[in-house]
Amino acid sequence: MAIMNKQITIGSVSGNDEIRPGYVLMTIHVHRSFPEPRPGQFVMIRIAGLQEPFLSRPLSIFSFSRGRSHGLVKLLYRVAGKGTQILAGLIRGSQVEIVGPLGKGYTVDPSRENRVLIAGGIGVAPLSLLAQHLCRLSGRGANPAVVYLGAKTADELVGLDQLHKYCNSIRVCTDDGSLGEKSLVTRTFQKDMKKHDPARTSIYACGPKPMLQSLAGILKDRYFCQVSLEERMACGVGACMGCAVAVRDENGDKTYRRVCADGPVFDLQKVIWE
Ligand SMILES: Cc1cc2nc3c(=O)[nH]c(=O)nc-3n(C[C@H](O)[C@H](O)[C@H](O)COP(=O)(O)OP(=O)(O)OC[C@H]3O[C@@H](n4cnc5c(N)ncnc54)[C@H](O)[C@@H]3O)c2cc1C
Ligand code: FES
Repeated sequence: MAIMNKQITIGSVSGNDEIRPGYVLMTIHVHRSFPEPRPGQFVMIRIAGLQEPFLSRPLSIFSFSRGRSHGLVKLLYRVAGKGTQILAGLIRGSQVEIVGPLGKGYTVDPSRENRVLIAGGIGVAPLSLLAQHLCRLSGRGANPAVVYLGAKTADELVGLDQLHKYCNSIRVCTDDGSLGEKSLVTRTFQKDMKKHDPARTSIYACGPKPMLQSLAGILKDRYFCQVSLEERMACGVGACMGCAVAVRDENGDKTYRRVCADGPVFDLQKVIWE
């Protein structure tokens, strides 16, 4: 089946574990033919055959692997409201309907070999798949990226174990100092900024809007930086304009782009924060 030419896959939940209070890691078995997602892409997910909740929810692909008989899609999500609460209640063997992989992912420029990932809270989800991808590109032994991972508290700091599989340079910080440095993740990065030569560096970020906005102020236009935005979505496939955000076009004029179809990844300096 397809929506707006997007493939619908029925997957089977093989794990749905609360790894921290209010944070769940879902593992879904999908058919072997499930397309390889690009880092930063997401899926729209809902319970197969149920009308409640009516709309699917967008979740980034946290990890993907393909075995001989099936693919494994992992999603890491925060229980935010009704939709994610229903997803969190799913037991092993439940069937879910997935549309995707959707959207445009992060761009990896081979000439900028110093990669910096900056994640705030659940924003770690798309950056984990990027770390996995960069690790594959860099090959064994190389450090594919420097990671700055922040959250409000130690309880809300998720995804660290997964990142450790791929990266050995991870700076952890929390707002209250309960784990790592007591600092905002943008501030921790800013202290290190001189180490990252703008000509050789690509920065990839995901997190709450204030974090990304503050990053825009810190970086100005000196660095190549892409961010993944998390607007509320309805259709998820470019049909309703429900997820439009203001950006600058090639001429510097204000225009609107759909997060689901034109994003969710955008050049940081093009985003207009309203
Ligand atoms: C491209 C994309 C990728 C995403 N990836 C992830 C992910 O990997 N993990 C994850 O936990 N979440 C992710 N989100 C956010 C996630 O989709 C929302 O948290 C979820 O849809 C909320 O649904 P709900 O029914 O549980 O909550 P609702 O009842 O709809 O909302 C509960 C609360 O969450 C807020 N909220 C709703 N949607 C969003 C949103 N898109 N962004 C921020 N706040 C929102 C509402 O304002 C409200 O305060 C992503 C969003 C997008 C657009
Ligand atoms: S959610 Fe409908 S166009 Fe993006």
